[in-house]
This record gives sequence, C-alpha cells and structure tokens, in this order.
Amino acid sequence: MKRVWITGGGSGIGKALALSFARDGWNVVISGRDQNKLNDVCKQASNISAFVCDITDSGDVRACVQNLGPVQIAILNAGDYSPGPTSATSMDEFRRTMEVNYFGTLNCIQTVLPVLKACNGRLAVVASLAGYVGLPNASGYGPSKAALISLCESLRAELQDGPVSVQVINPGFVQSDLTAKNDFAMPYLMEPDAAAREIRKGLETDRFEIAFPTPFVRRMKLLRLLPYRAYFKLMRKVAGP
Ligand SMILES: NC(=O)c1ccc[n+]([C@@H]2O[C@H](COP(=O)([O-])OP(=O)(O)OC[C@H]3O[C@@H](n4cnc5c(N)ncnc54)[C@H](OP(=O)(O)O)[C@@H]3O)[C@@H](O)[C@H]2O)c1
Repeated sequence: MKRVWITGGGSGIGKALALSFARDGWNVVISGRDQNKLNDVCKQASNISAFVCDITDSGDVRACVQNLGPVQIAILNAGDYSPGPTSATSMDEFRRTMEVNYFGTLNCIQTVLPVLKACNGRLAVVASLAGYVGLPNASGYGPSKAALISLCESLRAELQDGPVSVQVINPGFVQSDLTAKNDFAMPYLMEPDAAAREIRKGLETDRFEIAFPTPFVRRMKLLRLLPYRAYFKLMRKVAGP
C-alpha cells in the first residue's frame, strides 16, 4: 500500500487531504502538535495514523520520519499565520512565522529527502499565492511563503534528473482556522475539500506549480507583472485608508 505523509494533517487543508487519500486506499500518516486534533482525524478512517511532531523541532521530525518507513509522497503543509501591519508585529512573531513556515518545512525536507529518494517519491510543499508579491498586513507570512517558493524552485532545479519530483502548492483563500483570523472578505474563498481535490489533481501531474483557484491565480500573476507605480496604486485601495 502506498504511503503519504501530511504535516499539519489535523485540520483544514491537511485534514481534507488526509481523508481524500484515505478514501482512495492510501496509508496516510498525519502529523502536527495537537494530539486531540490528530486523533479526531484518525477516528474517521482506519488507514490514517498520527504522529505528534512539531516541525520546528529537529528531534521530533527525525523521530517522525523514522516512524514513517517508506513513503511515496510527503506533503509539507503545516504553517502559521499572524496578520497585521508591520509596525504592530513583534520581532518574536516575525521570527516564529519564519521558524515554522520556512525553517520548519526545510527541517522536514532535509530529513525526508533521503527516504523519498529511496522510494522514487514526490515532495510537495504548501506555500501560498500570498508568496507572489508583498501584500499589506502580510509582512510576516508573505516573505515566509515567498521563501518557500524560491526554495522549491532551487530544489526542483537541483533534483530534476533524480528520482524525486518536487512540486509547490500555492492555494488562494481556503476556509480554515488560519483564515478565520482574517477580518476582510476573502475573494474566491474555497472549502478545504475543494482545495484537496485541486491538490490531488495536481499531484497526478508533473507540473511544478499547483496553484488554484485559476481566476485568482491569473489576477495574482498579473499583479507580479505590473509596474510598481500601478501596483502600489492598487495596493492603496486594498489596504484602505
Ligand atoms: N487557508 C488558506 O487560505 C491558505 C492559503 C494558502 C496557503 N495556506 C497554507 O496551507 C497550509 C495549511 O493551512 P490551513 O489553511 O489548512 O490552516 P490550519 O487548519 O490552521 O492548518 C495549519 C496546520 O499546521 C499545523 N502546524 C502549525 N504549526 C506547526 C508546527 N510548529 N509543527 C507542526 N505542525 C504545525 C497545525 O497543527 P497543530 O496545531 O496540531 O500543530 C495545523 O493543523 C499552511 O501552510 C497555510 O499557510 C493556506
């Protein structure tokens, strides 16, 4: 039976992915810090098991990967988000976001890569469309996701002749505990199950980027191409007075 490891599998996108793979008969290992959340997901399918693992703790990640055994897909999905203006965000918060989203994910990559190499496996990293450009009130989160996209580009280039396929997953807005922190209307908001379907479809291909929903992706890609003058004019409207 094929095995998939999903970090942050106790809630949101990770949970929807775990249940989707489980329905298709995969052996699913989810990890996260909150044992109760993980247990609730495990109760929903006998082929899901859980491992408590804080991705910022290299000892935890080593133990988790040792416990996995052979694995065909690693989906590094765990992440954190603290919205707010730069002036109201503490250095501790900036560091924590980078520590979880970037260094935590990198910690998992370094540890699981030899296992994926041995299994001709697939590495999929959940970044975000918020990593495309600097957005107001996202100066902690955005750079952490931009760093992940860049990291995946490097990895894909380095590993393209080897056995491991590297993909980056860039979702738009998905309903979850993470986006419950947003106090604005989120365009093209999706349910986690719909996000999981998009990700599963993308994982069937060898496309580098799995980005969705398409109309939002197009708009975000256009933003990247705008001259700065036009970009900041638009951002003034987004940021409000
Ligand atoms: N929702 C969106 O609109 C959206 C859009 C783009 C990208 N994303 C990305 O999608 C991923 C999943 O987010 P979500 O929306 O599904 O939110 P979520 O339900 O809050 O999921 C985040 C998961 O990450 C885990 N996590 C956080 N810190 C961790 C740590 N230090 N070690 C291990 N696990 C940790 C949490 O589990 P524990 O609390 O059990 O540790 C939680 O299950 C994140 O990387 C997020 O940045 C989300």
